[in-house]
Amino acid sequence: MHLILSAPENRPFLEQELLRALPTSVLEPLGDSMLALKAPGSWSEIRAAVGQTVFARQWLPEARSFPVPSIRAAAETLVTELIGCLPEGAPWRLQVEPRFGVADAGRHRCELIRDSVIEQLRKRRRSLLKGLDAVPKAALGDPNLNRACPLFQPEESLVQLLLTSLEVGFLSILPAPGPFTSMGCVSPFPLGEVPVAVDKAAPSRAFAKLAESEQRMGRAIVAGETCVDLGAAPGSWTYQPVQRGARVIAVDRSPLRDDLMRSPRVTFHQGDAFRFVPEAPVDWLLCDVIAAPERSIGLVLEWVRERRCRYFVVTIKFKGQEDYAQLDVLKREMPRWVESFQVLHLCANKNEACVFGTVGDGPLKNAG
Ligand SMILES: C[S@@+](CC[C@H](N)C(=O)[O-])C[C@H]1O[C@@H](n2cnc3c(N)ncnc32)[C@H](O)[C@@H]1O
Repeated sequence: MHLILSAPENRPFLEQELLRALPTSVLEPLGDSMLALKAPGSWSEIRAAVGQTVFARQWLPEARSFPVPSIRAAAETLVTELIGCLPEGAPWRLQVEPRFGVADAGRHRCELIRDSVIEQLRKRRRSLLKGLDAVPKAALGDPNLNRACPLFQPEESLVQLLLTSLEVGFLSILPAPGPFTSMGCVSPFPLGEVPVAVDKAAPSRAFAKLAESEQRMGRAIVAGETCVDLGAAPGSWTYQPVQRGARVIAVDRSPLRDDLMRSPRVTFHQGDAFRFVPEAPVDWLLCDVIAAPERSIGLVLEWVRERRCRYFVVTIKFKGQEDYAQLDVLKREMPRWVESFQVLHLCANKNEACVFGTVGDGPLKNAG
């Protein structure tokens, strides 16, 4: 059985997406933001289906339930499982998904089980403990991101714990290189929720969407890079690269906040975002224009087809739920032109989704 988490308001849409991708699967809601999935397909078919969803935030593959008569007894069961499954000395993460169950003395019960697992490993199998959170340096990635949760590396295994009540929990063990090859399905962020610090100096709350996308990509816009920001006013997206020393060509019908209009790093073009073509390819396409979904989808596909950017973060806004099906065009077309991409409902999204990714060198490999 697989557990798949979403934001509570999106669980019905996640259910529809999964049933479209895996029509013979059986889905059972477990709480307001989790589905239990039983599907006959191979592991890679299920991974592909989960990876295609817009509303899944976290995946616990092959999850098994375990009893929680007490924190100590639950930890004993888990330690026996871990000793049987994990290779000694190899890096692994123990990630708790702490929404479910309740807190004991201010700490979530799941976190207390985690502490008890570590304590018992210290006594029963110290060599296994050496690999815990031994995240290779490379995983820390871009220092500009100041990442709380490094991306998975090929040699890492992942253990996830979640409680559905005081007495019942679920354990999912994904051996290496599963977490690395399933990025986009399995999130290094607990519950798939990306914590983004609020920056009160930014012109608006739209700030969080770009900040979250960078965290999920594991790549930040850095000094010296050039961005085109379409639909840039009042300027929260432009503000972030400018703060870091990047240059921005900002396009909007309306001007940005005064300080950004005056910034030597900002070139403002007053006009239609859909007609703007840069003189030379840029590092980043940023686009948060308010437009019909098919227009924004057409725009990002044109930019990647024409290789006008190396990376892209584009918001797709919806009027109603019937627009969600239009994202299928993106999912179908993108693999022809880009190295990697994701279409996701971000934590910071309202009635919208975000497509972000890397154009890279390989986009034309499937373009025939
Ligand atoms: C949601 S706001 C963008 C917020 C911006 N990302 C920020 O962080 O401050 C959408 C912007 O798109 C602009 N816009 C809508 N249609 C446009 C078009 N066809 N061309 C240029 N700008 C457009 C609007 O003027 C508005 O400023």
